[in-house]
Amino acid sequence: MDSIRIAADHLRAGGLIGLPTETVYGLAADARNSTAIKRVFTVKGRPATHPLIVHLGDPSRVDEWVTSLPASGKRLIERFWPGPLTLVLPARPDVLPEITGGQSSVALRMPNHSVALSLLEELGGAVVAPSANRFGHVSPTCARHVSDSLGSDVDFVLDGGSCRYGVESTIVSLLQDMPRILRPGAITLAELETVLGRGAVELSERADAPCVPGSHKSHYAPRTPMRLVQAGETFVSAQQHLAKGERVGLLQRCDKQINRSLLQGVMLFCMDSTPAGYARDLYARLREIDRLRLDTLLVEAPPSGAEWMAVNDRLTRAASR
Ligand code: TXA
Ligand code: MG
Repeated sequence: MDSIRIAADHLRAGGLIGLPTETVYGLAADARNSTAIKRVFTVKGRPATHPLIVHLGDPSRVDEWVTSLPASGKRLIERFWPGPLTLVLPARPDVLPEITGGQSSVALRMPNHSVALSLLEELGGAVVAPSANRFGHVSPTCARHVSDSLGSDVDFVLDGGSCRYGVESTIVSLLQDMPRILRPGAITLAELETVLGRGAVELSERADAPCVPGSHKSHYAPRTPMRLVQAGETFVSAQQHLAKGERVGLLQRCDKQINRSLLQGVMLFCMDSTPAGYARDLYARLREIDRLRLDTLLVEAPPSGAEWMAVNDRLTRAASR
């Protein structure tokens, strides 16, 4: 395909491209070109200490980036690659410090999207690809979102349609004996446990560690001030905001019973009632809502079960600022 060749040429020339993946769109640069990688940080407005994920086109390329791969890593790769699982492993000394933020580890994943895989094959190398949004904002889940967010700062955007998962990859660190989830994402804890065994994965307690930008308290945030409210408190909360003369929106799962007369004057936005459906649509919905310039968006907190972990993580961070 012509567009794949054009995109690869841009990368070879040190350019940045919008890259569709199964999770969100990435802002891709050649993973061996430090000048291009520095531009990724400038364009995103991302602090230089925050490491990037290296995207590979084939599991056999892992050895080019890491000094060792534990047995658990091999099993996870066999089961989940290509797919939305990022592994943090000990980096080879020749991995650019711009990628790792100067740390001795590197994050790797193989995306499961035909366009991304074709590009990686055409390039014959690897790309770094943070989500293609300005730092802290909502991630893009279709090609138009990338252009909306980054404009002419991106040299070329490959259009691969809407992202199947709509939420970022799950990041698992294999640097210690017990695999550790650094960022909940498209692969659930239960899925990881089918490979590693029950209770054989731990959740990071360092949720605010600066080396994981997605773990900064405020992240994935829409421009509209957003508040997460517990089910049962939405009505009272909406009334308080309406009383101040605000334009108020309420985002909730559409399987909820909605008493429209109680919520008169509130704009209602319905989300899929499954965790996967909710995740898939969330960022696009937040972008649509931003265009309405509401004063407040109330989001009814979804259930707290493990399968809602990625959604709850993103909502909590989006609401905190
Ligand atoms: O689904 C995804 O992972 C998307 C698509 C485009 O592939 N990419 C993405 O990249 O979400 P970004 O840059 O928005 O998030 C990268 C995450 C950050 O939380 C970063 O700190 C973490 O990966 N990370 C990268 N290298 C790391 C390392 N050596 N140790 C710990 N965390 C690391
Ligand atoms: Mg991001």
